[in-house]
Amino acid sequence: MKRILSGVQPSGKPHIGNYLGAMRQHIEMQKNYECFLFIADLHALTTVREPQTLRELSIELALDYLALGLDPKKVTYFRQSDLPEHAELCWILGCITPFSVLERGHAWKDAREKQTKDPTVGLFNYPVLMAADILLYKPDLVPVGQDQKQHVEIARDIGQKFNRRFGEVFKIPEPYIRKDVATVMGTDGRKMSKSYGNTIEIFAPEKELKKQIMGIVTDSTPVEDPKDPTSCTVFNIFKYFADKKEEKELEEKYKKGGCGYGDSKIKLYEKILTYFEEPRKKRIELSMNLDYVEEVLKKGAESARAVAADTLKQVKDKVGIPTT
Ligand code: TYM
Repeated sequence: MKRILSGVQPSGKPHIGNYLGAMRQHIEMQKNYECFLFIADLHALTTVREPQTLRELSIELALDYLALGLDPKKVTYFRQSDLPEHAELCWILGCITPFSVLERGHAWKDAREKQTKDPTVGLFNYPVLMAADILLYKPDLVPVGQDQKQHVEIARDIGQKFNRRFGEVFKIPEPYIRKDVATVMGTDGRKMSKSYGNTIEIFAPEKELKKQIMGIVTDSTPVEDPKDPTSCTVFNIFKYFADKKEEKELEEKYKKGGCGYGDSKIKLYEKILTYFEEPRKKRIELSMNLDYVEEVLKKGAESARAVAADTLKQVKDKVGIPTT
C-alpha cells in the first residue's frame, strides 16, 4: 500500500479552499493509502501568538477532520508538536540546506516584499520544518494545494541532497495536486487564504456563513442583463459543489439574464449548507466529547513515533550523532 503524508496549520478556521484543495483528498485517500495526517502546530507558531488560541485551533482542527470523515482506525492522525523528532530533524536538515534556497521561498519573499513586519527566523526556516515533516515518514505522495508545491519541491531537493551526501535514508515523494481544485478562489477573487480574510469557512455558524457568501465580490451587471458565468466567483465556487446538471442550470440562468448575483449567492449558500450537513451535525456531537479527540491524538502520536523515531535514528547514524 502506498503511503501519503500531509498537514494543515491550525492558524485559523479551515475554509473550503483547504477542504477542496487538500482535506477532501486526505479523507478519500484513507481508503486506498496508508495515511499520515497531522496538525501542523509548530508551523502555526510562525503566526499565532496567543497560547490559548493555538490550543483551541488545534483541537478544533482535529474536530473538523473527524467530522468530515477521517477514520482514526485507518489514519495515523497526530499533532506535530507531540513528536520532537520533527524539530530535531529540522535542525539536521537545516545544516545541509543552502540559505539561497530558502531566500527564494515564496512565503518568505511575500513577507519581505510586504515589509509590514520584521520577518522571523521561523518563517524563513518554515520549508525546512516542512521537509522534516515529510521526509520522516517516507511517503510516496504528499497531497496538497498548489500553494504548497514549492515547499514539497524543496523537501525533495533536501532529501536528495542528504541521500547523496550521507547515503540513502529518505524516500523522495511526489506532490499530489488535483488540477481542478489546485487553487480555490476566495470571496474577493484572489486565492482563498486565511491571511487574506477572504474565506468561506466550512463550519462557520449559518449566519456567519451567509455573511461570508453574500460578501463575494461581483461586478455591477444589472439583474436583467446576461452574465458571464466563467468570470463570476459565485459561479466558480458553486461548480465545486454542484453536479453537472445543477452547474448547467445555473450557467443557463447567467447567460439568459434575469438572475441577480444575490440569487446565485443564496443558491451557493444553500448548496454549501446541504453539502456539509452531515459533518456539521457530527461536529456538534464530537465537540461534546473532547476526551475522545485527545485520545485519538495520543494514539496517533504513538503510531507516528514508531516511524519517525526509526527514520531519525537512521539519520543520526549517517551524520555521526549518537543514538541511545
Ligand atoms: P495550510 O494550512 O496553509 O493549508 C492546508 C492545505 O490546504 C491547501 N490550500 C488550498 N488549496 C486550494 N486552494 C486554496 N485556496 C487553498 N488554500 C490552502 C494547502 O495547499 C494545504 O495543502 N505548510 C502547510 C502545512 C504543512 C504541510 C506539511 C503540508 C506543514 N507541514 C507537510 C504537507 C506536508 C500549510 O501551511 O498548509
